[in-house]
Amino acid sequence: MAEMILRTENIVRRFRSGDGEFTCLKGVSIAVPEHGLTVLRGRSGSGKTTLLNIISGLDAPTEGRVFFRDEEVTAFRAGKRDLWRREKIGFVFQSVALVPDMSARENVEYGLRIAGVRGRESRRRTRECLALVGMDKRAGHMPSQLSGGEQQRVAVARAIAHGPELLLADEPTAELDTAMGIQVVDVFRRLIEEQGMTVLMTTHDPHMLELADTVYTLSDGGIVDGDD
Ligand SMILES: Nc1ncnc2c1ncn2[C@@H]1O[C@H](COP(=O)(O)OP(=O)(O)O)[C@@H](O)[C@H]1O
Ligand SMILES: [Mg+2]
Repeated sequence: MAEMILRTENIVRRFRSGDGEFTCLKGVSIAVPEHGLTVLRGRSGSGKTTLLNIISGLDAPTEGRVFFRDEEVTAFRAGKRDLWRREKIGFVFQSVALVPDMSARENVEYGLRIAGVRGRESRRRTRECLALVGMDKRAGHMPSQLSGGEQQRVAVARAIAHGPELLLADEPTAELDTAMGIQVVDVFRRLIEEQGMTVLMTTHDPHMLELADTVYTLSDGGIVDGDD
């Protein structure tokens, strides 16, 4: 059986709303196997982004715990949590957000500079990551010269350039048509098979499920079997 890289244990997240409270997550336990593609599906508003934010330590749960391998991330102090996130986690978002006046190559290098990697090592990793997402031939293109799917692949290269162990992708295909969305998920599959990456992505698109190793469905604040 595969090792679990990440586990959540009975995550509850309540938000204050007006004078009452709204329980967004009502005790969510999931396990993410290493070297696989795990999909968290659910309708808009079902709490997918909230759960990802809790997993990455950007938000704290009201109750429950998050484990990365054997370490409890929810018990880390803020500084340690930030360091852990910067080293181990890569992020891909729904809207691609490449810097528009930088080429694909410069966007990836810029991400690495923020992570403290410069010079020859930065150029080497940038070349390698753009090749991994099939964008090495377009490294000099500006974002406006690339399709939405190609831009998202550059964003994936940027997200993995610092060598994270877990890639969190929040609806990475939502703004793409199905064919381009599948290209992006194919890139995830290649990263998993060739680089041993682990990917946790959210989606509400049923087309993306076939490529997943593990699927969790979030509905009414909890994990349910089958469709929501
Ligand atoms: N910071 C917040 N304060 C209050 N309500 C929030 C906050 N963040 C999310 N919510 C609510 O939690 C629910 C789930 O949101 P979200 O996690 O963004 O869902 P999804 O990503 O599945 O669309 C929504 O009803 C949203 O309005
Ligand atoms: Mg969301």
